[in-house]
Amino acid sequence: MTDTATREFTTVGVIGLGTMGAGIAEVFARNGHAVIGVEVSDAAVQRGREHLEHSTGRAVKREKMTQEQADELLGRITLTTAMEDLADADLVVEAVVESLEVKKSIFRRLDDIVRPDAVLATNTSSLSVTEISTANARPGRVVGVHFFNPAPVQNLVEIIRTVVTEPDVLADVQSLLVDLGKNPVVCGDKAGFIANTLLFGYLNHAVAMYEGKYASREDIDAAMRFGCGYPMGPLALLDLIGLDTAYEILDTMYKQGRDRLHAPAPILKQYVTAGLLGRKSGRGFYTYEAPDSPVVV
Ligand code: NAI
Repeated sequence: MTDTATREFTTVGVIGLGTMGAGIAEVFARNGHAVIGVEVSDAAVQRGREHLEHSTGRAVKREKMTQEQADELLGRITLTTAMEDLADADLVVEAVVESLEVKKSIFRRLDDIVRPDAVLATNTSSLSVTEISTANARPGRVVGVHFFNPAPVQNLVEIIRTVVTEPDVLADVQSLLVDLGKNPVVCGDKAGFIANTLLFGYLNHAVAMYEGKYASREDIDAAMRFGCGYPMGPLALLDLIGLDTAYEILDTMYKQGRDRLHAPAPILKQYVTAGLLGRKSGRGFYTYEAPDSPVVV
């Protein structure tokens, strides 16, 4: 625990053990926390377990941890289908599907389960943390914690404070994330948070530049790679993210923030409608022979 922290988070609950939840559970367990992972069904629990075993197995293979450490880590994680098992949790991180209704129903249910002093967090990437928090009787104890994928590897975590988040809750979560070896940053409750607000404004601008025939796709990408040192150009990156996903993210940000930077470039919608989704469909701004071979046609 760092000097500024006022409380310890001994037991951490994670709801939803998909791509993000399993990774988040691993991060906490690696740092010595007891983790209770909640899923919807036995089959989903089994998928979560396999996810955890696969991820820790890879870390052992890459010599990031020993087999003994991996076994200890997995031993700290209890998996269950009963949300009531979160009664003793100091912190609960919700990482279920990106649905406002599902998330609100979980925060509502947590009212009757967790202790009054527990901190509740949502890993939502685009929904309003404020709206999720008000489903609970203690919205002041709710924050967003936006981990990046894969959570065990990516160091950035955006903490989202709402207008009613209590200052000590924010400070405690910040301090906890530092203890986990993460780089937390704090921002207000607006879709996109810091990183995606800036990144998607830039990506959208690149699409508009291409759409206006100002420059070729190769030259737009080359300018950012060789001029700015980015590992990928914006159009190649959009193909990797998936044009449908990128469109949804931009559309959500635009509807919430009304910032023209995020008004999806018209061609993006046209590509999505035509089924050109990027790498996953074989064609987006570029054409791909196989999912992992960028062959420009
Ligand atoms: P996912 O679809 O891989 O996993 C969601 C899991 O939640 C599934 O295993 C599902 O069985 C479980 N679930 C659904 N309803 C539940 C309930 N009522 N109780 C318990 N478990 C339940 O989704 P993913 O990608 O892990 O995303 C989860 C959250 O994290 C979403 O809010 C998403 O926006 C956010 N996020 C996703 C990122 C990504 O790159 N995939 C990055 C950062 C945030």
